[in-house]
Amino acid sequence: MSENVRLGFIGCNYRGSGMLSLLSEMEDVDIVAVCDRIESNANKAAAIVTEKGKAEPAKYLDHHELLSRDDIQGVIACTAWLDHVNLAVDCMRAGKYIGFEVGGACSVEECWRLVYAYEETGVPCMMLENCCYGRNELALLNMIKQGLFGELIHMQGAYGHDLSHSLVSRIQERHYRTFHYHHRNCENYPTHELGPICNMLNINRGNRLLTLTSTASKARGLNARAAKMFGEDSMPAQRHWNQGDVITTVIKCAHGETITINLDTTLPRPYSRELCVQGTEGIYMEDGNRIYIEGISQTPHEWDCFAPYLEKYEHPLWKWFKNTGVKGGHGGMDYLVQRAFIESIRDNRETPIDVYDTATWMSITALSEDSIALGSMPVAIPDFTNGLWIDRRPDPKCRYSLDAVHNDLF
Ligand SMILES: NC(=O)c1ccc[n+]([C@@H]2O[C@H](COP(=O)([O-])OP(=O)(O)OC[C@H]3O[C@@H](n4cnc5c(N)ncnc54)[C@H](O)[C@@H]3O)[C@@H](O)[C@H]2O)c1
Repeated sequence: MSENVRLGFIGCNYRGSGMLSLLSEMEDVDIVAVCDRIESNANKAAAIVTEKGKAEPAKYLDHHELLSRDDIQGVIACTAWLDHVNLAVDCMRAGKYIGFEVGGACSVEECWRLVYAYEETGVPCMMLENCCYGRNELALLNMIKQGLFGELIHMQGAYGHDLSHSLVSRIQERHYRTFHYHHRNCENYPTHELGPICNMLNINRGNRLLTLTSTASKARGLNARAAKMFGEDSMPAQRHWNQGDVITTVIKCAHGETITINLDTTLPRPYSRELCVQGTEGIYMEDGNRIYIEGISQTPHEWDCFAPYLEKYEHPLWKWFKNTGVKGGHGGMDYLVQRAFIESIRDNRETPIDVYDTATWMSITALSEDSIALGSMPVAIPDFTNGLWIDRRPDPKCRYSLDAVHNDLF
């Protein structure tokens, strides 16, 4: 059998195609089998692999058949939000590492199912949160570890992305995201900003998320978009959407830090994750690409441009990545998150984003739904580590570690 990491790939539509294409270019990876419950997507997946000059993978419509193969070490799943947990649990029980795409949970119970499956099997489970490997996010992590911000006090982030056109135009095809906006009202996509923030705050490693409150604005954006696209009297313009346009969630941490995250996906706006890091020594704001660090910034009370700080405090992983050639979607972070997963399988170790991180981040969706339904009442965030966070051993040391920066590995 090949020395390469042998993967199965499940879910090949919009996101899956891009992720599979990138994986198929990796010399040390064999895509042994692909699976999609829609046959044309399974065929498309196999074609993506062969077009990159790799051997044709086996094709399946049922993931249980893929998981019954004993030549697969790990699985990457680019499925819809409601499919992730069942698939992940099946993968862990089949003894295969699982890396699955981002998305929130529908219930806290789902998150516990992930944790229990991991604790029963010992098989790693990783959310493939690509933004944890963003260039700015990693430079900031590096700066925080070097103490530039002092003690962290408050963090902000957002998923600010106008999806209204896509949501309204995909009603007829019954797209999963559209359904969530119709039926639910919650912080449905927290992890792009919350993942990096949790890494910066050592969440599940000496700190934890304690409580949250969520508040939803009224919902008008999708009706307004549909009226522009199809007319005031059209079905999408008349539809009742439960999902508020802007959801604001405030999280309190065990060591007193506060985090606010905003979901802002149905009103006209440019894209931003609106990251803000604030500590006793200074503040960074993504919007405006600016920073102020007391004693380092040129003029008291005036912003500096972040660009020179980025150069100076570049994370070693990004220095290496720039030297070897940045590749892959979303500015390179898709490649880095895939490598973080693949190299964990190769080295037979825990993944840098583990099951406790995955469960914690996903739970925010279900908990925000409860808080909004209860009139913005505070709700408790479970400790998915069951106390492990209090005295946690460091994560296995690797280039992709998110609990520490290992300059000596580069
Ligand atoms: N990280 C990022 O930057 C990023 C960007 C876009 C999308 N995403 C995420 O990627 C995921 C997929 O998004 P999408 O828009 O491609 O979804 P999609 O619905 O278009 O595609 C999902 C595919 O998975 C297949 N599938 C679902 N469950 C299956 C199962 N049990 N067995 C076999 N096939 C199954 C479906 O048939 C479909 O082809 C979502 O979680 C989304 O949030 C992440």
